[in-house]
Amino acid sequence: MSEWDKSSWRTKPRIQMPDYQDQEALERVEAQLSKYPPLVFAGEARKLRAELGKASRGEAFVLQGGDCAEAFDQFTGTAIRDTFKVMLQMAMVLTFGAKVPVVKVGRMAGQFAKPRSAPTETVDGVELPSFRGDIINELAFTAEARRPDPQKMLQAYTQAAATLNLIRAFSTGGYADVHQVHQWTLGFTEGEKAARYREMATRIGDTLDFMRAAGIDSHRSAALHQVNFYTSHESLLLEYEEALTRVDSTSGKWLAGSGHMIWIGDRTRQPDGAHVEFARGVMNPIGLKCGPSMTPEDLKVLMAKLNPLNDPGRLTLITRFGAGKVAEHLPRLIETVRSEGANVLWVCDPMHGNTVKSASGYKTRPFDKVLSEVREFFAVHKDHSTIPGGVHFEMTGQDVTECTGGVYAVSDENLSDRYHTACDPRLNASQSLELAFLVAEELTQLGQRPAEVAAG
Ligand code: PEP
Ligand code: CO
Repeated sequence: MSEWDKSSWRTKPRIQMPDYQDQEALERVEAQLSKYPPLVFAGEARKLRAELGKASRGEAFVLQGGDCAEAFDQFTGTAIRDTFKVMLQMAMVLTFGAKVPVVKVGRMAGQFAKPRSAPTETVDGVELPSFRGDIINELAFTAEARRPDPQKMLQAYTQAAATLNLIRAFSTGGYADVHQVHQWTLGFTEGEKAARYREMATRIGDTLDFMRAAGIDSHRSAALHQVNFYTSHESLLLEYEEALTRVDSTSGKWLAGSGHMIWIGDRTRQPDGAHVEFARGVMNPIGLKCGPSMTPEDLKVLMAKLNPLNDPGRLTLITRFGAGKVAEHLPRLIETVRSEGANVLWVCDPMHGNTVKSASGYKTRPFDKVLSEVREFFAVHKDHSTIPGGVHFEMTGQDVTECTGGVYAVSDENLSDRYHTACDPRLNASQSLELAFLVAEELTQLGQRPAEVAAG
């Protein structure tokens, strides 16, 4: 394979990226970002790779979640805390319910750039470039707002740094201490799933009391006091990614310093394209979105390019086919992975194959379709004796009405009540928790498989 360097993607065909008009302004921003500190460090990326490797063997389970797109005007400490809190609750449901360690990965602190289905948008006969996320341009439908502005990369960097700072504080500063398990429920007190969560929190509290009575001081265990929480985003805006790429002085390898894990979207995974070229050379764990159009031939080439040493934990295949389509598309990818003898982690994204336009005009996702795709993912992996290693959700801790259904039954007419997403519709806190209980049940059933099946 040809030599790689952090700018070799520039020689490859690029799509879904803005055409910056002012090259000088772009270069100034790139030069500035190149001097800024990276947001993550190589030891953390290595640790995440090891944890994802465990998940690929069924020794852990991955929970990846957060906004479809982070937004400048929705940047508050409360929003970050609430998404973090719901992810902790979901992880607790999985850990306590299914007895597996959970690897927690936020779609946070860098998830700004969006691929779009069309490069332009036409309203009342006026055609303007599409909105591509706050790191690139603005949503307002004016020529000025839609013009890509490289300065926005600096604001995205600042927001990502502050977000990560708060996440790190929550992870290690006491907020994520398991002794707080009851506190995480506050603000989420009604409904059957909340009651189930509270009951579980009480049982965890009892267990901690028992440990203390038996002379085990759970307050001294780092594993109960702190969590490892990682960040991830789609590495779509390659000028930003390149500028934050650094050499790890310990190993001499390149690290994408913009986040712990980066992924390649379903629209930008051309084997000879710019996005694959960039990702192949950095040491971070890499996600690869696989939609219905993924062919065995492409998957073969992509696995060879992205994980030539076949390291477990390096490559995560995030499948997103849509409810009712998993049995049609997943088996051929499983066969390809098997025939190549490839080590991959299988993760289910039940969001992106299930987006529909509601009668009221909003982009939404019916919650029962999201549940179905998760169930189908588990069923197909069970049939093939492969390992369902994680889930990937677009979700928020805010009480939004963006996906229809769920225990509080958001209806088509309710969508306009609190529809705040900067891009795709997200699960709200209650829908997220409901999904966690479903996944815990699926995992528990897997754990109860007869030994000879599990070994197959
Ligand atoms: C996304 O994760 O927001 C996204 C655009 O996904 P996909 O590439 O799978 O469509
Ligand atoms: Co999305």
